[in-house]
Parts: sequence; C-alpha cells; structure tokens
Amino acid sequence: MIKHFLSVIALLCLFVSCEKTIKDSSPIKGLITKNAMVVSARAEASKIGSNILKKGGNVFDAMCATQLALAVAYPFAGNIGGGGFMVYRKANGEIGSIDFREKAPLAATKDMYLDENGEVIPEKSTLGAMAVGVPGSIAGIFDIHEKLGSMPIEDIIQPVIDLANKGVIVTKKQARAIREYQPLFPKVNKYPIIFDKRWKENDTIKYPALAKTLERILKFGKHEFYKGETAKILAKFIQENGGIVTEEDLAKYEAIWRTPITFTYDDLKIISMAPPSSGGICLAQIMKMLEPFPLDEFGHNTLKSIQAITEAERRSYADRSFYLGDSDFIKIPVETLIKENYLSGRMAGFSFDQATPSSSVSHGNIQIIESNETTHYSIIDPFGNAIAVTTTLNGAYGSKLYCSELGFFLNNEMDDFSSKPGEPNMFGLIGAEANSITPEKRMLSSMTPTIVEKNNKLYMTLGTPGGSTIITSVLQTILNVHEFNMGMQEAVNAPRFHHQWLPDEIRIEPNAFNKNLIKKLKTLGYSINEKDSPILGKVDGILVLEDNSYEGGADYRGDDTAIGF
Ligand code: DON
Repeated sequence: MIKHFLSVIALLCLFVSCEKTIKDSSPIKGLITKNAMVVSARAEASKIGSNILKKGGNVFDAMCATQLALAVAYPFAGNIGGGGFMVYRKANGEIGSIDFREKAPLAATKDMYLDENGEVIPEKSTLGAMAVGVPGSIAGIFDIHEKLGSMPIEDIIQPVIDLANKGVIVTKKQARAIREYQPLFPKVNKYPIIFDKRWKENDTIKYPALAKTLERILKFGKHEFYKGETAKILAKFIQENGGIVTEEDLAKYEAIWRTPITFTYDDLKIISMAPPSSGGICLAQIMKMLEPFPLDEFGHNTLKSIQAITEAERRSYADRSFYLGDSDFIKIPVETLIKENYLSGRMAGFSFDQATPSSSVSHGNIQIIESNETTHYSIIDPFGNAIAVTTTLNGAYGSKLYCSELGFFLNNEMDDFSSKPGEPNMFGLIGAEANSITPEKRMLSSMTPTIVEKNNKLYMTLGTPGGSTIITSVLQTILNVHEFNMGMQEAVNAPRFHHQWLPDEIRIEPNAFNKNLIKKLKTLGYSINEKDSPILGKVDGILVLEDNSYEGGADYRGDDTAIGF
C-alpha cells in the first residue's frame, strides 16, 4: 500500500516542472477580467467554457462544456468515465450542490479486494476493470443542464466534439505524464491504446472515437450513456476485462442533488460539499478549530501557524476516518462534528510547546442517536452565478483501462472505499466501517469544491485535485486570502503543507520552507516529509476583487489556465 501511496506522489510530481520555482514561473497577479472567468486544468477547456459564456450561456452551460472539454483535453483526470461534485451559488444567493460521484456496482462485496487470508490484494482496487465504479459524470452534466442550464445542449456539446475531432496539442507536462504511465497501459489493456504511442510535446492527439460517443450522447441524451448503445458497449467491455459493472448498474445510476455544508469563519460564509465527500465537513472542522487563533498575527507559514493548522488537520482527519462515508448508507453526526463546543474540546489537548502524537489522537466521542487524480475548475458567469466543480478518475488515467471503442479511460474510484478497516488506500487514508464497500454505495471522497461569501456577496470559488491533500490545500488557499491578505494567484502559488493524522507527518513542498523553521518543528516533535511531496494540490480559483472584477488563480504546478472577458 505504501508503494501505491508513493506512486501517487510520483503522479503528483508530474505536475511539477522541476526547474521551475515559484518565484520565476508564476506571476503574483492572475488574469483579471470584468465580466466572467473560467479557470481549469487546460487552456482548451477554459476557452470552450469561456466561449459558451460569451455566447450568452450561464455558468451551468459552461460547466457542462468545460467538464466534457476536460474529458477530451485532459484525459489524465478530465472524464466521462468518472465522477465528481459541483457546488453552486446563483447571483441571487441561492446555493446548492450535486453529487455525480461513482458508486459501487450491484455485485460489489465488502471483501472483494481481500484474499483468502483477509489481506488486501495489491492493485486489485487500483488497476484494471475490478477497480471501476459506476461512472456519474454524464448524469451530472445532463441533470445540471436540465435544471439550471439555459442554452440548447447542441450548442454546448458540439464545440467539444469539434475539439475531439480536431485534436489537442500535447504539452510538455502531458508528454511527461503519458510517458510515466505508459508501462501500465499494456498491463491492463488487452489491445494497444492511443496512449501507447510515444507522444511528444507539440504533437496533436485526435480523439475520433470519443467524438463519436459524444455525438451519440448529443443525439440521445444521458440515457445513451446509461441505457443506450454506449451503455451496452461499456458494460460488455468492462466485463470482458474481468470487471463487474453491468448494464443494470449503468441503468440504475442517478446523480443526487444535495444540501451543501455551510459554516462561518470570521466574516466569511463557506459553502462546500457534503457527504459522500468529506471535504465540507473536514474543512468546517479545521476552520472552526482554527477560528480562535490569530493566524494573521502569527503570519503565513510561520511556526505557530503551521502548528495550529497541523493540529486541527490531525484531529479532523481522525474523525474523517471513523465517521465519514456515504450518508445514504450510514448515519453521520454532521451537526455535532462541526459544532463549536465539540471542536473546542478536540483542540483542548493542544499546546504550542509540543506536537500531539497521532497515536494519542483518535476520533472524537459522539453518541450517534439512531432514528447514521482529479481536476478542479471554477467558473463565474456575466450574471454573477458561480460554480466550483471537482471531478476525477481517481488515479492518473484512472484504472488505466481505456475503452478504445468509446474513447475514454475508466475510473479506479473503488480504491476510495476502505477495503479493510485500518488499511491505508493509495492516498494513505485509513477508513473504517463507515466507508466499507456495499453495493450501490458511494465511496468517501476528499473533493472539496468550495464557494466563499463575504458580507453576503460572492467572494471566491475554488478547489483542487490531490487526493487526501485536497481539503488542506483548499483550506490554505482560503486562509492565504483571508488571513494573509494575498490575491488569488498569490494564494494559489504559496507553498503548501499537509497533515492527515496518519501517517503522523507534515508533508511539505520541497525547498519552499525555511530550513530553520523545519528544524524548529522537528524539535517540537513534528516529523517532516519533504521528499515525497513534490506538490500538494493544484488549486484553481477565482476571487472577486473590491471593484467587482475577477482575479483568476490558475495553479502554475500544472497547465492550468484562466480565460475570461
Ligand atoms: O475523491 C477523492 O478524494 C479522490 N478520488 C481524489 C483523487 C485525486 O485527487 C487524485 N489527484 N491527484
């Protein structure tokens, strides 16, 4: 499992251009626009989203186009074979969210990734068809469009079909990512796939098969993916490769509208994702534990700030591992978990004199009363509506299983379940019964698409990939703006650190933190892991400036780009 964890770290490393440093690579101010903005992992996707807005579409139309465009331009994580979450805030202040997370197939069982001795079978939940959860992205797109969109779906999907046919130019980072994962593609796929070729920077990859799939989806709607020819091809393909997803699984899939998690922090109101994502609850817990500390006085990335943030993160991730899972299957004490008196109790044992060892921290005691590789994009439209969407195949190129006939990768989201209590998944996250596998249950996520209000007005929309580090990267970006007075791009650029209870270590971006500071943290009992953390998250966000213009923060750690007008 540690091996998996390290391969995820290697994956994250791909985003980073080693010769680049924060200082020489990224402007401190991001793109500033007056009317609208899209920030996503690829310029092609941001452009398609922005064009939809220019043509008069709203943020939800742009969401549908951007999600599909990322499936074409960013197959590393953009997808129609995966799932995700969207949080929205309309210009009139109305908020909401939709869960289009994958779910376990009907034939899934609690012990499906264990051998006869009860041990986790390496790679079974991460590589190949057995790792695949029932995809949710197409359901999400169509449900969003039906409820909130304003443009004809043809005008939204056609530019993406055109992009797939025309092809996408390979960036330096993308060429490196494909090269890195190429050894795994033949291991999983029976026949050669498009990504086996030695693609170089500036080559153009065309996606005619994906274009055809999208044409059918355009013609027949979401049922094409879940009940039509595409569903038949997909279920057959997964089963021929040893998986268990059936046509019935696809036919039964539904995206779910959910009430977001909301809480206040100083004069901010934070709106984030509810279970089956842990994002909103953990963000609320950490921020509420931090609220009493004068972080602005401590200063950005100073000893005291890092200590306070680390200790809050440690306690929240301990709760995450015990209490959180799919709330449609288990009872989650959400109210208590984010209540101030519960959280102040959790921090009671903390002192600046010494680290709290994770071995002495468990989940908090709550009486449950019976009555239980990813990408993010942020968009604001000219009407003032905002969305935050995080979507994923889980690992880089998901399960690595690529359906050449349909033209897309399938997720390996099943690894986000807890295969065995106490056994870490590929992000080193420990789970318990709450996140055990059950047919049709959704696996616990860390994705944290988040919108922030200030004085009842839209202030920020943001999110990031990064597995378990998602929550803490979103946290630090909000704090960078609110506590440390940074702009959006500066907040995104700033070096990040992460603690997740277990393993008991602070992961920090290499060469970004003062050596003296690291020494002091070590003296206080903190274990520092600088080596395995080339990057923590890849944050894309938009900040509303005082004059009501927008500043984009596109993470220099990837090919992320802000486009707007
Ligand atoms: O839902 C989750 O928390 C994970 N599947 C996210 C995976 C991820 O962020 C990978 N990106 N680096």
